[in-house]
Order: sequence, then structure tokens, then C-alpha cells
Amino acid sequence: MFSFTKENLQRIEAEKKKYPTVESAVMPVLWIAQEQNGNWLSEAAIKATADVLDLSPAHVIGVASFYTMYNKQPVGKYHLQVCSNISCSLLGAKKLIHHLENKLAITHGETTQDGLYTFSEVECLGSCGTAPAMQINDDYHENLTIEKMDELLKGLEK
Ligand code: FES
Repeated sequence: MFSFTKENLQRIEAEKKKYPTVESAVMPVLWIAQEQNGNWLSEAAIKATADVLDLSPAHVIGVASFYTMYNKQPVGKYHLQVCSNISCSLLGAKKLIHHLENKLAITHGETTQDGLYTFSEVECLGSCGTAPAMQINDDYHENLTIEKMDELLKGLEK
């Protein structure tokens, strides 16, 4: 069961006013749904998004499934998204990914048993000039090295 809070319904109305058609508001409304639903989009959250925009669930699923920023299953407290696109790969992303997978004993799309970390290998984060890049929840971390990644993980509150 998912229904938007009163506050989020107001945010959604404000988003809808920014665009000429409701289809254009799908992405920000999905973002609001994900935020309210504990950082992932359940079937019910997608249905509520479709309902509030008067669109078909299939249309909304199409958008949600295209973008990696929408989580289609629950994620850990820290969602570690490492870019493996060209700039990051040229500057060592594969080594970073390998290191992270070994350290946390998980692979792409998996969450550690304690529910703390989810790892995702993602496409370009738009931070190519400071590659390699990783996003932890909403924060970007750039010019990564294995040492810097270890420091970041150590610094995350348990
Ligand atoms: S290629 Fe990694 S941020 Fe663009």
C-alpha cells in the first residue's frame, strides 16, 4: 500500500505546473515517490505515480525501468553507484569495482546481509571530468582511488 503524503501531493502539483504535459512530470514525480518509499519504487509506488498523473502504469514503468537512478528493488542504507562508462573505465573504474565487490562480498545489484550497502555499476554519472566517480546516496565522490574509496567506506556511519 502506498499513497502520497499531503505534502508530497502539493509538491507533485507544483511539478505538474512546470511542464506543458503531465508526461513530462513523470521523472520528478517518480523521484518524489522513491524518496517517500524508502529509496525504491515498489509496484504500489509506481501505480500511485501513474494514478496521480492520470497515466497508464505501463508508461510509468517504461520511464522507471530506463533510468538507473530509480531503484526497482529495496536498497541498503548506503547505495554505492560506481560509474563504469568510458572516462571512468579509462581511469580505473574496473579496479575500483573489483575492490568494492571483494571488500563487501557483493556484486552488481546486491545488498550486504546487514542491509548497509547496495552496489550498482552504473552508466555515466555526468562527472567525466573528475573520473572515476561514485555516487553514495545523493552525494558524488570524484577522482576516486582505492585508498579514497576505503576512506569513504570507513567514514560511513554504521
Ligand atoms: S564516464 Fe563516469 S562520470 Fe561520465
